[in-house]
Amino acid sequence: METNHNTVVVINFGAQYAQLIARRVREARVFSVIVPYSATTEEILHYQPSAIILSGGPASVFEKNAPQLNPEILKLGIPILGICYGFQAIAQSVNGTVAQNDSAEYGRTEISIIDTAEPLFSGQPKNQDVWMSHRDAVVSLPDSFIASAKSPAAAIAAFHNERDRIYGLQWHPEVVHTPYGQQTLQTFLYDIAGCKPTWLADEIIEMQVDKIRDTVQDKHVLCALSGGVDSAVAAALVHKAIGDQLTCVFVDNGLLRKGEKEQVISDFAETNHIRLYVEEAETEFLRDLQGITEPEAKRKIIGNAFIRAFERASKKVADAQGIPSFDYLVQGTLYPDVVESGSATGTSVIKSHHNVGGLPDDMEFKLIEPLRDLFKDEVREVGEALGLKKKIVWRHPFPGPGLAVRIIGEVTKEHLKILADADKIVTEELEKADVSFSLWQCPVVLLANVRSVGVQGDARTYGMPAILRPVVSQDAMTADWARLDYDLLAKISSRITNEVAQITRVALDITSKPPASIEWE
Ligand code: XMP
Repeated sequence: METNHNTVVVINFGAQYAQLIARRVREARVFSVIVPYSATTEEILHYQPSAIILSGGPASVFEKNAPQLNPEILKLGIPILGICYGFQAIAQSVNGTVAQNDSAEYGRTEISIIDTAEPLFSGQPKNQDVWMSHRDAVVSLPDSFIASAKSPAAAIAAFHNERDRIYGLQWHPEVVHTPYGQQTLQTFLYDIAGCKPTWLADEIIEMQVDKIRDTVQDKHVLCALSGGVDSAVAAALVHKAIGDQLTCVFVDNGLLRKGEKEQVISDFAETNHIRLYVEEAETEFLRDLQGITEPEAKRKIIGNAFIRAFERASKKVADAQGIPSFDYLVQGTLYPDVVESGSATGTSVIKSHHNVGGLPDDMEFKLIEPLRDLFKDEVREVGEALGLKKKIVWRHPFPGPGLAVRIIGEVTKEHLKILADADKIVTEELEKADVSFSLWQCPVVLLANVRSVGVQGDARTYGMPAILRPVVSQDAMTADWARLDYDLLAKISSRITNEVAQITRVALDITSKPPASIEWE
């Protein structure tokens, strides 16, 4: 992103670690980008970084194919902070010694600051808990480096080289289990690297609005709304930039949650005066899904039906507006998608695997991706700053194939109604108990192909079980099952079995991800 903000480059020695660091830097209101450890000096300098952070990673510096630190980076005169693997990689690079240790340190560990003049730890207690994860340890350093902290298994748990402004920590300041971690990062960013906390939602919006106007000029833009946060915020940003040159399309595939279509129409489009066209395609989707129970087959069928419906809608809308076709398509791509796909720069022409579901070759759009520099929590902040309703901004993520992948068995109109009714009860109760915002998602899964026995009155009855899958997560890559209050679970269970006649049993999924995924299919 062209920016007049100070930028921090995070060098990636292990994906999850680097993303978490980049997010923590953003939380300090400083823009950050992630580059692979193989990035050249020119690629790094392209960002004109105010600081560089070397991430941790799963490897040991002694492994045969361990990712190597480009030693030129240490000579750039830019403040550097090495974390865990990055800390050891610096030590190795400056001819210090890293040794394989007898005793590893994993988890909460007490460190002592041994150089109280160390600016990185300014204002912090001498002894403090940190989160460690290492077996190898730095055992010697050249004279220009000073050891500034120690732990039980590492005589050198932190170092600094004031002259070259190179700092290192054996522990992870980016995780919440290191109480002074964020303070340490902020001291590095503000006091050592001179960064300013200017990365704020209002600035992001202003920058994107200018960029979108520059790109689009007088052309026409289309946006497929999914009902989710990302496409809503992307559309609202583009709308702020170009107003009615944007048209949104919402495909009603019949696989939606109760009230979802109405929410998109009234709470999003009408409230924000955004042009919306709704393509009714339920009959077509359900016809194509008839008799299908295999999850991947469902996804494929839904993807294809979406392409047809979207293509039809875009032609109708273009005709109605008297234009030959739309020039640009808005996509809600987020930064983690960009990092994971390894493409850090440029816009691309849409390809079949993109998450709109893939569009045919003769429907080539240029893409506008106003969220491609943002993490999910920043998207929500931008959404709030744009004035979108809280219930849109804080909506739980919902899979593109919708309720179809939450019905184990055939996707019929009847099964969809049963699941949508149960899902609505869960949504209501989570909101009433004020816990919805603290959950990442709470899928309700219908085991439509199971007959579970029950007793109602004097008779044995048979019905379908429903599974609750409440999870907490930062990014859906990993998740834990949410410890919901028993009384709340009891209320949900009794409401579902009382109000949805076909469901006779409610079960709770208590599996983390990994090993289980969030969705059941
Ligand atoms: P899993 O089940 O892989 O889900 O742990 C991770 C996140 O992705 C969502 N999800 C999907 N989203 N199309 C989507 O657009 C899909 O086919 C799909 N499958 C899972 C899921 O809801 C969770 O947030």
